Amino acid sequence: MKVINQLKMEFLSLPANVAFARVAVAAFASQLDFTLNDLEEIKVAVSEAVANAIVHGYENSPTGIVRVLVTLLETGVEIRVEDNGKGIADVKKALEPAYSTDPERMGLGFVFMQSFMDRLHVDSSPARGTRITMIKNINNRGAAAASQGGH
Ligand SMILES: Nc1ncnc2c1ncn2[C@@H]1O[C@H](COP(=O)(O)OP(=O)(O)OP(=O)(O)O)[C@@H](O)[C@H]1O
Ligand SMILES: [Mg+2]
Repeated sequence: MKVINQLKMEFLSLPANVAFARVAVAAFASQLDFTLNDLEEIKVAVSEAVANAIVHGYENSPTGIVRVLVTLLETGVEIRVEDNGKGIADVKKALEPAYSTDPERMGLGFVFMQSFMDRLHVDSSPARGTRITMIKNINNRGAAAASQGGH
């Protein structure tokens, strides 16, 4: 798959960086032909993944490092969010709607990531931390190609 552009970011696990990451990733992804609605959905998915890294991975300690890798492809965007925090013991359970290890939370982060992105992959172990890989495809490629090739 041809890589068009790539962004790598690293930041501390501070709550303020959730808003930073969502805006930065959406601004970068807007180089592709996404709709405004797509970009809003990307923002939500990134917020949820980064918030999870901070709140669960690093248990709100501000000294962890969150890494975000955004790859623009001809077909869409791939977003990775990584932490070296405590990891997820049971990924299958964590992905269930309304499942949370924190009774104060709704357990909807992964539901949003799954419904707003076309693919979600969770790679995690208690020793290493967690890596979330999400893909969102550009859906209006047919329309864009048709309007460009006007003859
Ligand atoms: N990066 C992570 N590191 C460790 N555990 C995680 C991580 N991301 C998710 N989890 C675990 O997966 C569970 C489900 O995550 P999800 O985002 O769906 O719900 P939540 O964060 O608990 O609630 P909400 O997102 O609605 O505030 C979490 O409760 C947590 O136990
Ligand atoms: Mg969450």
